[in-house]
Amino acid sequence: MKINDFRLEVYFGEHEFSAPYLLGQSDCEAMTVRELLSYESDSEKAFMDSWLGYTEVAGSDELRTQIAQLYSQMNSDEIIVHSGAQEAIFNFMNVLLNKGDHVITMFPTYQSLFEVANAIGCQVSQWNLRQGNKGWVLDLEELEALVTPQTKLICINTPNNPTGYTLTDEESARIIEIARAHNIYIFSDEVYKGLELDGIKRSWIADQYEKAVTLGVMSKAYGLPGLRIGWIATKDQEMIESMMKYKHYTTICNSATSEYLATVALKNGQRILNRNLEIIKHNLEASDEFFEKYSNLFTYNKPMCGPIAFHKLNLEIPIRQFCDTMVKEQGVLLLPADMYFFEGNYFRMGYGRKNFKENLKHFENYLIKKEMTDKVIKD
Ligand SMILES: Cc1ncc(COP(=O)(O)O)c(C=O)c1O
Repeated sequence: MKINDFRLEVYFGEHEFSAPYLLGQSDCEAMTVRELLSYESDSEKAFMDSWLGYTEVAGSDELRTQIAQLYSQMNSDEIIVHSGAQEAIFNFMNVLLNKGDHVITMFPTYQSLFEVANAIGCQVSQWNLRQGNKGWVLDLEELEALVTPQTKLICINTPNNPTGYTLTDEESARIIEIARAHNIYIFSDEVYKGLELDGIKRSWIADQYEKAVTLGVMSKAYGLPGLRIGWIATKDQEMIESMMKYKHYTTICNSATSEYLATVALKNGQRILNRNLEIIKHNLEASDEFFEKYSNLFTYNKPMCGPIAFHKLNLEIPIRQFCDTMVKEQGVLLLPADMYFFEGNYFRMGYGRKNFKENLKHFENYLIKKEMTDKVIKD
């Protein structure tokens, strides 16, 4: 299969490990193995005794049991563990889709959620998030209007990367209703779930619809991307079997040590989510202040859930040029909208890291140095 470059990963590849002030990252603050093991007594010895043989294709029973407990309707045999979320997206799309199928994808979104379908030869329609007066908005009637007799899949990403928009349970129920009426699969990337800033927990889509496939991961809300542990949850047993067979050609099974560490993390999942939520809330206080101070320069779109948001720069300078110059001259990394194929002067900002405030200061210093702070908003 030929597939286009992953723009965001290419951009991060250029800057992520050289820019000193990261302000666009999507994961929460990571931790050391030692810190993670300190959440669970006796886990250090068990970790050292981990067996480094091949592991079960679907993931260890213990890990799948922990994952299933996140849901209200899932059993461990309705879960398949993958190497990160990315492998699961790639395998799912390849199992379900054929050339000529129609796919509707929430947009903007993480590139693989439409690029893999493109590479297979599907026709992909965008269901657009739009800038409203108080953040991002989605039109459910628009979704229904996009459905055709060839539509095989609706792909949603909630909480959304890059906007931080999250569906309410009522909105999810309506999407399920549309999908059910037309016998369409839903792929629901929910890798940022668990960090709801309004304190209202959202239900997982796979708990509510028999043709829904939900994606979860340790990388984002739990801040453990180095584990490379993601998973699929679905009631569709045929899908589970087909994805297991597909995985025989990608990674076969997961790292034994990562499975063990992910199990420890999920046993202490709520504590880790609380830790990360605290970091985000703390950072948002500084962010509120910053965007209030510079409301002449930016449209501030506070996230609804998770550690990322998509704000607008209201200056004449193109966002790509703005971000490229800033990382070069000041070492501050933001993610420009063209990484999402999104038109408009938007940039992604990440709130999950402990050094956010310090990095924001470098962003401000850059604006001051470039004499941008007093500029007046364009029409
Ligand atoms: C919405 C979304 N899905 C999937 C992924 C891939 O996650 P992972 O790095 O765990 O493979 C990402 C990573 O940024 C993401 O933002």
